[in-house]
Amino acid sequence: MDKVEDKWNRIYSEHQRAGRAAAVLTDNSNILPVTGVALDLACGLGSNSLFLAARGLEVHAWDISTVAISCLAKHADSQGLNIQTRVLNITASVLPIDSYDLIVISHYLDRSLPPAILNATRSGGVVCYQTFTAEKEISIGPSNPKFLLQKNELQSFVPGCEILAFKDGSNNTNSDDPLAGRAFIVARKPKS
Ligand SMILES: C[S@@+](CC[C@H](N)C(=O)[O-])C[C@H]1O[C@@H](n2cnc3c(N)ncnc32)[C@H](O)[C@@H]1O
Repeated sequence: MDKVEDKWNRIYSEHQRAGRAAAVLTDNSNILPVTGVALDLACGLGSNSLFLAARGLEVHAWDISTVAISCLAKHADSQGLNIQTRVLNITASVLPIDSYDLIVISHYLDRSLPPAILNATRSGGVVCYQTFTAEKEISIGPSNPKFLLQKNELQSFVPGCEILAFKDGSNNTNSDDPLAGRAFIVARKPKS
């Protein structure tokens, strides 16, 4: 069977255009920091990284795909954006403590990560999650339940945080809508 990086490298070899940033960022841009350091986990071609860097953040962009990361590095370079790219297999143990003002993870669900993501967020920083839901009424996105959010599961990823925004687009079947079949949450880690 294909290794996960081989699968994604093949996909990105055929498709190299970063699309729109995730709705969790574009819909909530008025409440997100514009200074500091952000981490885009499982960034793919980096639409979220490009969006955040263009707003003034220093961005760290991590993904397992060498093809996606080299594509993003080229885009960042050509646009003069401050994005530090890194190829790696993301696990809880690679996340540093208290290091980021914003962490975004979109369209990637690994349930072992949320506690480490919260630890990696600075106090007062924000965590942004968005992905597909088990209740989605649209055929795009994964079908394996392992990669689909249960109802209100996002809230369980951010215990003790202030919820700044939450939206469930499970019933949205407009495939042009960036939230169709997905849910997002933006949560602020309390100031210590
Ligand atoms: C559906 S794409 C999402 C990309 C981007 N976040 C977005 O919303 O457009 C999932 C990404 O997860 C990456 N990925 C899968 N497993 C990974 C792992 N173990 N470590 C790091 N990245 C991984 C893939 O290479 C791919 O870029």
